Amino acid sequence: MKKLLTIILLSAITLAATAQPKLNKDNIDEVLAAMTLEEKATLVVGSGWGSMAAGSMTAATKVLVPGAAGTTVAIERLGIPQTVLSDGPAGLRIDPRRKDDPNTYFCTGFPVGTVLACTFDAQTVEELLKAMGEEVREYGADVLLAPGMNLHRNPLCGRNFEYFSEDPFLSGKISAAFIRGIQSQGVGVSAKHFAFNNQEINRMANDARIPQRALRELYLKNFEIAVRDAKPWTLMSSYNKINGEFTQQSHDLLTTILRDEWGFDGMVMTDWGAKDGTVAAVHAGNDLMEPGMPFETQRIIEAVNNGTLDIADLDRNVRNILNYIVKTPRFAGYKYSNKPDLEAHAALVRKVATEGMVLLKNDDNTLPFDGVKNVALFGLNAYKSIAGGTGSGNVNKPYIRHISEGMQEAGFKLDENIERLYKAWREYQNAEDVNASFLPGQALGGGLSLGDGVMPEMAVRKVVVQNSVVRNDAAVVVIGRNAGEGDDRTIDGDFDLTAAERELITNVCNLYHQAGKKVVVVLNVGGAVETASWKNLPDAILLAWTPGQEVGNSVADIITGKANPSGKLSMTFPVTYLDIPSSANFPYYKPKGNRNNGGDWAAMAAAMGFKMPEPQPVKDYDYTDYAEGLNVGYRYFNTNNVAVSYPFGFGLSYTTFEYGKPTVKADADGITVSVSVKNTGKVAGKEAVQVYVAAPAGGLEKPACELKAFAKTRELQPGESQVLTMKVTSYELASFNDDTCAWETAAGTYKVLVGASVEDIRGTATFKQAKPMSWKAHSALLSK
Ligand code: BGC
Repeated sequence: MKKLLTIILLSAITLAATAQPKLNKDNIDEVLAAMTLEEKATLVVGSGWGSMAAGSMTAATKVLVPGAAGTTVAIERLGIPQTVLSDGPAGLRIDPRRKDDPNTYFCTGFPVGTVLACTFDAQTVEELLKAMGEEVREYGADVLLAPGMNLHRNPLCGRNFEYFSEDPFLSGKISAAFIRGIQSQGVGVSAKHFAFNNQEINRMANDARIPQRALRELYLKNFEIAVRDAKPWTLMSSYNKINGEFTQQSHDLLTTILRDEWGFDGMVMTDWGAKDGTVAAVHAGNDLMEPGMPFETQRIIEAVNNGTLDIADLDRNVRNILNYIVKTPRFAGYKYSNKPDLEAHAALVRKVATEGMVLLKNDDNTLPFDGVKNVALFGLNAYKSIAGGTGSGNVNKPYIRHISEGMQEAGFKLDENIERLYKAWREYQNAEDVNASFLPGQALGGGLSLGDGVMPEMAVRKVVVQNSVVRNDAAVVVIGRNAGEGDDRTIDGDFDLTAAERELITNVCNLYHQAGKKVVVVLNVGGAVETASWKNLPDAILLAWTPGQEVGNSVADIITGKANPSGKLSMTFPVTYLDIPSSANFPYYKPKGNRNNGGDWAAMAAAMGFKMPEPQPVKDYDYTDYAEGLNVGYRYFNTNNVAVSYPFGFGLSYTTFEYGKPTVKADADGITVSVSVKNTGKVAGKEAVQVYVAAPAGGLEKPACELKAFAKTRELQPGESQVLTMKVTSYELASFNDDTCAWETAAGTYKVLVGASVEDIRGTATFKQAKPMSWKAHSALLSK
């Protein structure tokens, strides 16, 4: 009898054990069925702040990768592991040092998103991003919180450097390449910030009020391309609202458009910070709350129990999370090495950065330097160069190769007096104040790591410049700018140059030119700056951007001619800030100390002596009216013939290219454009070719032309040619008709413009669209 009882008991225990499935990729529904309500609610609420650094706040979560932004939580009984989510767009952001551990965990500082877009080369971006993906995997993270892909609506947005372009097609295709590169390494991405996060001021509460057509054609289009082309594992919803509703709680955005229309089958997580509407977010299709707080779990449990949240919504989200988890390296028990090949990645970064740098001016072939040995190198950021932006877009990189170091390594002899002056200024600034926390590569224990910051530029007396002329063959002036999340840039002294910078450029140019010597300005900046008022002064201008940890070597490679710059502008450089239509509705003036709310902006601006374009509709910026609609970037400047300083797509090379006559073949699916490009100059180089399409009259009113394809040649030797072939689908030609709520491609004769920039069209062709085509969309996210 006792034996029988034991057998029965043992069988019951076995049964109970088998009734507890362990997660695998084929039993997700079974695991879901075995989960309690508490477990489901725990899983959809992730763990963020607690896992960022040693000293976890939440006992249930372990610190798997110190410095990572967050994790999903483990449910051990069901074999669900904790997985790691970590920033960001310019490389993995984790703590570089760990307590009682002699090893270091530095990650490569890659070129920022804008540089990637300026390569106009999806293949190169995909290759480079494989290296970033390897670091994600080898340091034990499962998802990289990137790419950042909001449109450059306005150059003052503090996070533009993380983003790609003012154009949704370029942004979408480069994002897709980014995603493919990372995900080829067996780890995922979280494409962000979905969507309409085009400013940082009041980012947690700002309501983006966007007309339907611009919302579809511009601000969602790049996400649509990335989702359809590259299938990101996850997306991150943004902080802000869209037309009155938080994106995190928008069923229209996260389910109707994203899943029902675009076919997204991955996971959506919130951006980092709890919102009031946890339950609404679950219902909307926001699968994972990050960083996750215990009170959110309670809210979900209560809502299911009191019938305000349908358990089917919760189950759907849990299923999406489980589907994600089974794909991760952590689930597979991957033994990561903590030893990615940082040296090989640095070499890649050094090279690709030069392909995203844009040569804006090069009179008399000033660059590459020929016969120049002694160089007067001016500008603080020559000695303290900026590799990338601040905030979650920063990377704790092993080093930053300063421009001064790169130049010296390349064999230039830098003027010692000037070098001494700037180094002293740098030390003084470091010692003085908060800038100490901006030291390159330094992480702030567990919190956001600050990037390489900008210190005030030093005023250099004219006599110092004058005395240097005789000692040097040429001068280089470096101008620096940095920005980061949580704040936007200002016009004066940020978009516009400061008085000290203007004076420096003017004095150096005047005095060196008097002696027949050349001057080059290098812009080590994260975003567009004003150039029209001073660009006539130097002989050459190199827009180096913030191109990653090898900044100095990459710049030196271009200055010596070891590399031929092949980047083109992914955004327009206007003549003045106020030329940009969105400047009428961008909160560009901020009194210090009261940045996100309150303040009588117009009155304060008037008191400071500058003019607001139009009376501001709101005082405290709790909404932003995207009144300019489609008039963003070249769509506005080109269509309305408004002069710019440098147009979209512009960039010089050390060689010249001749374009053949383009041909266009139309088929049922769209068109195929071919063009041959020949290197007609004296050195090897790559050319980024752009295909713009101008629609026939009769359909919807459209911008004069829109970018619909781009491609870059391989490195062509002098005399060598290559035929580039690019496809544009009929759907890609469509515009959004908000009356019919459909994408429409009108019938008629289209003009195809093949160019080196939007203003430098080298050849045209036409094709006929016999019948109009249309694709029905959902009626969603309508303005209130
Ligand atoms: C940023 C995100 C980032 C997250 C985690 C947020 O403040 O907006 O881009 O991924 O923090 O660090």
